[in-house]
Amino acid sequence: MKNCLIIGASGHAKVIIDIIESQNAAKIMGLLDLQHPIGARIKGYAIIGRQEQLPQLMTEYAIDEIVVAIGDNFIRQRVVESIRQNQPTLRFLTAIHPRATVAANVAIGEGSVIMAGVTVNSDAVIGAHCILNSNSVLEHDALLEDFASLAPQAAVGGATRIGVGAAVGMGASVIQCLTIGKHCVVAAGAAVIDSVEDLMLVGGVPAKIIRSRSLGEKYF
Ligand SMILES: CC(C)(COP(=O)(O)OP(=O)(O)OC[C@H]1O[C@@H](n2cnc3c(N)ncnc32)[C@H](O)[C@@H]1OP(=O)(O)O)[C@@H](O)C(=O)NCCC(=O)NCCS
Repeated sequence: MKNCLIIGASGHAKVIIDIIESQNAAKIMGLLDLQHPIGARIKGYAIIGRQEQLPQLMTEYAIDEIVVAIGDNFIRQRVVESIRQNQPTLRFLTAIHPRATVAANVAIGEGSVIMAGVTVNSDAVIGAHCILNSNSVLEHDALLEDFASLAPQAAVGGATRIGVGAAVGMGASVIQCLTIGKHCVVAAGAAVIDSVEDLMLVGGVPAKIIRSRSLGEKYF
């Protein structure tokens, strides 16, 4: 079994721990986090250091793969990019809950996380470091670009494209054949029926532009 490390120790990290345990594909050697003291335990796993100690801890704990368990899409992207710059050969674990339904021909990028109850249909493509939260749906031929996320119960229709770092909020629906731009946020409960330019916040039924966003702005 491979040894893995988790970066982050939030509620999102707890869900990822559950997925890795139920996949039974990797042994969790510990977590790296800034907020908790070294030695604190999250679901029985110790905080063993800080992100800047990653190279040394990779050797010390014979780590094969890591997963960046940070829910905010932009922060996750920044952390992954800094790790890639310093350790270009490092591998990222892809966590797929055994109770997710993923069609056989779906492509899934490294570091992505697929939670319980998710459905991903035929010929959909999931980029790297994406998050598909509980019970979200990515329909056939849809594309979730790198660092994008679907919140619980979000649904993306067939052949729709969700841009890099975009977040589709809880229970929101995006109909088929649209493009949601990079770093957009679709508010909880929205019904999106038109494509959306980059860096927009949209919401409502049918969804309208609420305002533009700045890169890295918080949305939780
Ligand atoms: C949209 C959201 C990001 C808030 O953004 P914000 O810029 O802080 O928004 P504000 O609360 O300042 O509200 C701005 C306007 O948007 C409206 N708005 C906020 N959330 C909305 C929603 N879900 N649907 C429709 N309109 C919404 C507000 O009513 C307000 O309208 P007004 O200017 O006419 O009064 C947030 O409400 C949301 O939906 N987040 C997604 C949460 C989620 O899915 N979490 C997943 C956890 S796993």
